[in-house]
Amino acid sequence: MRILSLQSGTSADGIDVAIVDIDADSAQSARNGRTPWLTVRPLLTRTVAWAPELRTRLLALADGGRVDAEELCRLDTLAGQEFASAARAAMQHLGSAVDLVVSHGQTVFHWVDGTRARGTLQLGEAAWIAEAAAAPVLSNLRAADIAAGGEGAPLMGIFDRAWLAASEADDGTPAATVNLGGIANLSVVTSGGTMVAWDTGPGNVLIDAVVARATNGARGFDADGKLAAAGQVDARLLSALLQHPYLQRPAPKSTGRETFGLHFVDSALAAAKGDSPLSLEDLVATLTRLTARSVADSLHTGTVERPGRLIASGGGVRNPSLMSALGAEVARNGISLVSSDVCGIEPDFKESLMFALLGFLSWHGVTCELPATAPGRARVAGQIAPGPGPLRMPAPLAGIRGLRVLPMEARTPAAAAGASR
Ligand SMILES: Nc1ncnc2c1ncn2[C@@H]1O[C@H](COP(=O)(O)OP(=O)(O)OP(=O)(O)O)[C@@H](O)[C@H]1O
Ligand SMILES: [Mg+2]
Repeated sequence: MRILSLQSGTSADGIDVAIVDIDADSAQSARNGRTPWLTVRPLLTRTVAWAPELRTRLLALADGGRVDAEELCRLDTLAGQEFASAARAAMQHLGSAVDLVVSHGQTVFHWVDGTRARGTLQLGEAAWIAEAAAAPVLSNLRAADIAAGGEGAPLMGIFDRAWLAASEADDGTPAATVNLGGIANLSVVTSGGTMVAWDTGPGNVLIDAVVARATNGARGFDADGKLAAAGQVDARLLSALLQHPYLQRPAPKSTGRETFGLHFVDSALAAAKGDSPLSLEDLVATLTRLTARSVADSLHTGTVERPGRLIASGGGVRNPSLMSALGAEVARNGISLVSSDVCGIEPDFKESLMFALLGFLSWHGVTCELPATAPGRARVAGQIAPGPGPLRMPAPLAGIRGLRVLPMEARTPAAAAGASR
């Protein structure tokens, strides 16, 4: 089936769009009485910029800004319309209809009470997307797991369990992945198929925040890690930052921008430095090391069997300073760091493939067992806006065995030249 995946991450740096074919070898599996293997083939991947003014308003809300119901309604509607036009443009570019759209939306709040997730809010009204795509839209992917007692996050473990079942099954050592988005999340999958996954803490979110503040918004991130490369890690500040209670908590756990924001950096700065100034370069170098150290420490303390390698994805892969800091931190435990490129997945679009997979699973009635989901309480993820036609759901599947990611389908030169990435 052809699935269009839409999402905007914690950084709200853009709307990631992918159109993906996911097919089950069901005939063969049915003959063997087994659950199917899936093949996942991306046909189109692109990132579409948010309208700047809307992005500013969404980020203000995600950063704790107080808004009234009118503004919430407007933001939900406007975000839905932006996702809708991103979907429409991608379908026009490919010249193809889709069977299903999966829309994660823009997270504006992840409600964690003490140590338990209680709720989560993603904006982007699905009805607009269903109108534009003339297809059913699956959205609100996290709520069912939270209502059943889970964290609703991180979702990447679902993809990694299926993906690594195929690629690392005979190796014997567990495989680990890290997604370096605004928040960083890890998954560890053993060769027996057991999966653990959790948010380790900050990915790029703090680096982005201090760069944006220091440049009055002229720059939104540490392009190519140049500021970090020009600075020195401040050991006192790093140690103050590492005291954050979230970093000490055992997995499973999930977090968001509301926990890791400028208020946290500023109070650690005050505790560690008092009034002594710190250059932007040193601050960024220290925050870059914080991400690397917290991911590596979390991987070390959160896993019983040591993985052989750590496969990285997300925008942080484009930051050489972060990748070299993380590579050095995990190497101390004998783990090698590689980009997901090496394993056939474009780092910027691994999450898009993950959302497409979630869509396939929910469409086929397959439940999602996330890391904090209690035994017997796995639920089918998401809610469906039917779109113009009556819903025709396929026969449910009992589960899947695993998935293989095929290379991006070869495009005609004209189509490839028009692609945004
Ligand atoms: N060339 C680059 N140099 C340094 N950092 C980069 C570069 N390109 C992207 N980034 C970082 O990656 C971030 C975007 O990554 P990504 O899209 O994976 O995060 P996200 O949208 O927060 O996703 P999610 O929260 O869903 O994981 C940017 O905000 C920036 O910090
Ligand atoms: Mg992003």
